[in-house]
Amino acid sequence: MASSAAQIHILGGIGFATTSSKRNLNAKSTSLPRTAFFGTRTNPFSTPTSAFLRINTRNASRYSVGPLRVVNEKVVGIDLGTTNSAVAAMEGGKPTIVTNAEGQRTTPSVVAYTKSGDRLVGQIAKRQAVVNPENTFFSVKRFIGRRMSEVDEEAKQVSYRVVKDENGNVKLECPAIGKQFAAEEISAQVLRKLVDDASRFLNEKVTKAVVTVPAYFNDSQRTATKDAGRIAGLEVLRIINEPTAASLAYGFERKSNETILVFDLGGGTFDVSVLEVGDGVFEVLSTSGDTHLGGDDFDKRVVDWLASNFKKDEGIDLLKDKQALQRLTEAAEKAKIELSSLTQTNMSLPFITATADGPKHIETTLTRAKFEELCSDLLDRCKTPVENSLRDAKLSFSDIDEVILVGGSTRIPAVQEVVSTISNMVYV
Ligand SMILES: Nc1ncnc2c1ncn2[C@@H]1O[C@H](COP(=O)(O)OP(=O)(O)OP(=O)(O)O)[C@@H](O)[C@H]1O
Ligand SMILES: [Mg+2]
Repeated sequence: MASSAAQIHILGGIGFATTSSKRNLNAKSTSLPRTAFFGTRTNPFSTPTSAFLRINTRNASRYSVGPLRVVNEKVVGIDLGTTNSAVAAMEGGKPTIVTNAEGQRTTPSVVAYTKSGDRLVGQIAKRQAVVNPENTFFSVKRFIGRRMSEVDEEAKQVSYRVVKDENGNVKLECPAIGKQFAAEEISAQVLRKLVDDASRFLNEKVTKAVVTVPAYFNDSQRTATKDAGRIAGLEVLRIINEPTAASLAYGFERKSNETILVFDLGGGTFDVSVLEVGDGVFEVLSTSGDTHLGGDDFDKRVVDWLASNFKKDEGIDLLKDKQALQRLTEAAEKAKIELSSLTQTNMSLPFITATADGPKHIETTLTRAKFEELCSDLLDRCKTPVENSLRDAKLSFSDIDEVILVGGSTRIPAVQEVVSTISNMVYV
């Protein structure tokens, strides 16, 4: 455990809601350079081996203990997302995102059981979600550490059955194997895969991790996340707030005091946090968000557009055909991602269905402009939580030094435009 204490310390000695503000926010100059960063998270939580060695050496000389035995143990940082998860480790002194067994840098936070009882985790589980909806567990983070009475609305929005046990706790029903799972047990399967893939990637057994959670998670949600790690056979050294992890990824712990806004638009949720950072201290001043806004909604707009065009042309409702819907959903996400770097993309879905006349295909072009039109109200919905978080922190944009964009959906150019418009900042 000596190693873990050192590791945490080296990572910035971060407190979540630490001491009172070190300076008067209102006295802040508005003429400071104001910039916005954007990019994906890199979550550099784990510990450089050199730091660990240094601490051991110091202890050794102080207590005159015998020859040093160096335990070179990797600690990984895990971003356990609602829709996707990622794991990082220090490699050669630099944070590195671990590539999973499928060669991807993120892993869908999805677990499924097939009719024959096989367990699928990650991309393979996501790929069969539409055809096996009642045994495919996604967005489980919405249920972790919650009581049934708190998640009635959420429970209606997933394709698997959410029930309560005799203590009022949430259970997820899996008819394929006739079992009920706690949300922690499902999240544990995701963590297990992440850590197995990390062990393979790093060529080292991984047993310790730091895991991120949304800043607004309460004690019960944090404890349940830790429990998920324990079920997965991991020692969770620390739970870190997601916006704090994002700030660390941008090196904010090395800066002198700044007030920043973290804009995190992921797959299913949108979180905005205002933080005061600097000198290794991170204080969350306010959080806001939209628990049902993310990349999945943007995908759905494209799916609905494809399906309504097809219905107009062919008179067939593809949304009722599970196989077709699965393919439309995958094609929509792919097109959306392509439109982050291209101004138009071709969508090709051969043999999407068949009629008495023979097979039917979809072959179309989606422009970025059309995509933005389909999603214009979603883009608008990004604004309110930003205003609310500033209001709750009793600040305005002129008090914010920097904005950090995190989450896959902030790659969408129109989302970046929304942020620069409302903040009146420029990208660097
Ligand atoms: N280049 C891109 N352009 C547009 N969208 C992208 C791009 N890359 C990833 N995405 C989208 O980002 C979303 C996933 O983001 P992320 O991995 O941050 O989610 P998450 O952290 O799991 O979700 P949440 O924050 O809701 O918990 C998906 O909807 C994905 O399609
Ligand atoms: Mg996220």
